[in-house]
Amino acid sequence: MTLTRVQSRPAASDPTADSSTSVHLVTFGCQMNKYDSLMVEGRFRKDGYRIVPGMDEADVVLFNTCSVREHAEERVYSWLGELKAEKLRRPDLIIGVLGCLAQRAQDEVFRRAGHVDIVVGTRRFQHLPRLVEEVRERRTGAMPTAASRVLDVDMDDAVEVERKGEVYTGGLNGFLAVMRGCDLSCTYCIVPTTRGKVQSRPIAALVEETRWMVSQGARIVTLLGQTVNSYGEDLPKPAAGEETYLGRQGRPSLADLLYALQEVEGLERIRMITLHPSYVTPAFAKAIADCSKVDRSLPLPAQSGSDEVLRAMKRGYTTELYRKRAAILRAEVPDIELGSDWIVGFPGESDADFEQSVEFLAEIGFSSNYIFKYDPRPETVAHDRTDDVPLEVKKDRNRRLLEAAHKTQFGRMQRHIGREHDVFVEKVSERHAGFLQGRTTYGIPISFEGPPERVGTMTRVRAAEATPYGMMGLELVDEASA
Ligand code: SAH
Ligand code: SF4
Ligand code: F3S
Repeated sequence: MTLTRVQSRPAASDPTADSSTSVHLVTFGCQMNKYDSLMVEGRFRKDGYRIVPGMDEADVVLFNTCSVREHAEERVYSWLGELKAEKLRRPDLIIGVLGCLAQRAQDEVFRRAGHVDIVVGTRRFQHLPRLVEEVRERRTGAMPTAASRVLDVDMDDAVEVERKGEVYTGGLNGFLAVMRGCDLSCTYCIVPTTRGKVQSRPIAALVEETRWMVSQGARIVTLLGQTVNSYGEDLPKPAAGEETYLGRQGRPSLADLLYALQEVEGLERIRMITLHPSYVTPAFAKAIADCSKVDRSLPLPAQSGSDEVLRAMKRGYTTELYRKRAAILRAEVPDIELGSDWIVGFPGESDADFEQSVEFLAEIGFSSNYIFKYDPRPETVAHDRTDDVPLEVKKDRNRRLLEAAHKTQFGRMQRHIGREHDVFVEKVSERHAGFLQGRTTYGIPISFEGPPERVGTMTRVRAAEATPYGMMGLELVDEASA
């Protein structure tokens, strides 16, 4: 999983007049945060606000934040620090913090950054336009006071989304939070604290949102969730005789959702992030095999290859169990590509434990890998254990695992060389003029020469060359489309 900073972009044509209040949003963290930011922008636009691309021109500046590692939080505080002078210059400026840091730190944000007006949690951001109005009514001077500040971090609500009627800004790539929260408790992880218990949305609502995105130009939908394949576990079982989506029986699962989305006309590809090995079932594997639109590629983080470390992390599986889950998937989709996240330097991780991660990465043959140095997070179980792997050792393990990952990834890519692939073309290459970029149905990035009109369509490409991160190929243009 990558951590990126995203500058929000304005809609192509903004219906509101220039005198309206302007909002600028800075997004940190994962895809779920990017999706939430789109919804926040949508809420503001609906209420007559303008979304602007720069902070200087904004009446309201919002930070959608991440808490997964300390560095992610410090970056937010450093951005906030930079805004202090601006707030003194422009007393009317409203500053808000939302997302995982807001949920975790709550009023500590006000203590560390006294110029912040609003702190809003991960399940309350849809109320932001109202909260901004509240601050406007309450404030009296340049700096926020206890009486003017708004703190809203309630976790009981479901996040209500009704995106129809919003300006869609997602392009070909539509994102869809199908569930939120995590019911597991990996000992290193802050996410259950910041995102709360699992809440899944009903299939009918998800199909409707997907149809809406497709009607606005989306061709790919990425299903988001902290453990996306636990989708449905919290939903009620249908009562006897109750009509279910596509007539499927029992409590809805991610498999049912895939079958439902496969039927959405105009939708070309379905992707998912992130899965947990414990929730991999034969029914899910079969759904991938049955649904041609689903990418044959899954992020299924192992985190470590040592049973000892996995137990200390409370991941809920051993390497043997992981192998079994991978086998369930590969029995239905033999060449499925798996990706992993890894934590190096977890408390107590010995050289021998680390070597097992290197071996496990190669054994499973992960084709994409994200490696993180263990970082103790407050209020997690592992936080109480001594962070006993020195930083230099963590860095060295990170480098070595990355080297091993490159080797394995390169091998996986090479298996596809010389073969023809169905490729969904996503964009024109920014670096190489005349080149297009897309992904094969196995989720592998591939670039090739071709005309811009091809973007947004499926085409056929012969893979010619590999790197550890993707392939180069030649488009096979048939006479009809030439
Ligand atoms: N829900 C996902 C992961 C969410 S966090 C899952 O269960 O796989 C994204 C990644 O950040 C994790 O997979 C993990 O590798 C890493 N991570 C989470 N907490 C961390 C910590 N305290 N230190 C270092 N890396 C961490
Ligand atoms: Fe965190 Fe584990 Fe839940 Fe993933 S499964 S969000 S790593 S607690
Ligand atoms: Fe960060 Fe929260 Fe996502 S901690 S990774 S923004 S779920």
